[in-house]
Amino acid sequence: MGYRLTRRGILSGGAMGAAASLAACTTSSPAALAEAKGAFPPSAPLPLFGPAEGQALLSRNENPYGPSPSALSAISKSAEKGAYYTNAEAIQTLMALIADRHGVAPEQVVITTGSGEALSAIALIYGPKGPIVAPRLFWDTTSLYAANLGMASITRIPLTDGMEVDYAGIEAAITPGTGMVQLCNPNNPTGLTTPGTIIRSAVAGMAAKTTVVVDEAYIELTDDEAAITCVPLVKEGKDVIITRTFSKIYGMAGIRVGYTISSAETAAKIRATVMSSAPCTSTAAAIACYNDEAFITYSKGKIVEGRQMVEATLDTLGLPYLKSQTNFVYFQSGKPANDLQKAMAAEKISIRGQYMDYTPWSRVSMGKLEDVSRFCKALPKLIGA
Ligand SMILES: Cc1ncc(COP(=O)(O)O)c(C=O)c1O
Repeated sequence: MGYRLTRRGILSGGAMGAAASLAACTTSSPAALAEAKGAFPPSAPLPLFGPAEGQALLSRNENPYGPSPSALSAISKSAEKGAYYTNAEAIQTLMALIADRHGVAPEQVVITTGSGEALSAIALIYGPKGPIVAPRLFWDTTSLYAANLGMASITRIPLTDGMEVDYAGIEAAITPGTGMVQLCNPNNPTGLTTPGTIIRSAVAGMAAKTTVVVDEAYIELTDDEAAITCVPLVKEGKDVIITRTFSKIYGMAGIRVGYTISSAETAAKIRATVMSSAPCTSTAAAIACYNDEAFITYSKGKIVEGRQMVEATLDTLGLPYLKSQTNFVYFQSGKPANDLQKAMAAEKISIRGQYMDYTPWSRVSMGKLEDVSRFCKALPKLIGA
């Protein structure tokens, strides 16, 4: 046992020396193995992930109260088996959990790398058939992805005067050549939520003419998820696809798990189009926290508390905002959004800049309460109130 594997040894001894050292490791006693393990380079410093030191990160609709302890423990245990591709049984376990909660069959569920991957795959499937009809303002990243590849175009229907989605306008824009309709409820960046009675009847009408995708990324944060979701339309056999994510209520944006609920036939098409397979760590985390009610209640509670702080600040300042049921608020500060973003950045507070030509509208996400509090304190100063 003359070898001790160090970074320097690998660099100076070259590949042969390193190979010899590794060979020695594989035949060593557990004690020697442990020693060799200790000689590997330490993991990358944590500041590579998450917000920089002192930065209030309130721009990306993340939920810093996750991942749950149950998910973290599952990630660490599953990482020990990271040498292996994720077992089909693990994916099926997650599919079954999701299917069970929603009252659908497991084959109606597709697990994806965040809901973004699902939405991109859906845009690639339906985009080539014809335009994606959507509200003027929605989470358009995945439709743009397909559009940038020349595989889709977006027909944007203006919002109502109250910044609501114009469902009648969207339905009227559907033609036999439409690729699909894409909706987002609650919508991003407005944060507005359409009640279930309204969206379900609108979507049922549209789905008789074309495929309708309802992106429900934020729905678990709303006051009454069951009353709002369009999952019942899938169960009624309508041509509807629901997308959901573990990035919001579960606070796992960096872990990357999302899923779709649709007919089994549509699910098969989505499964055939997605490009990656679920990592073992993400799958384990999702299984562990999906029904972690204590964490879900805690997570939602923190987000609601942050939202109330922001709303109270905006009310005190008399600034207009849209009533949100999500982890972000769309508001007017009296300054152009990009100017407010710059001014906040100078205070090490990161918020969203302008969307399209919606110059007066800024979006702030609910981060850690102390960061939300920094935003609330900085806002009056920055707008000269
Ligand atoms: C409305 C909406 N849908 C989907 C996503 C994609 O999220 P993820 O890919 O992390 O599931 C986001 C991300 O912010 C979003 O705002």
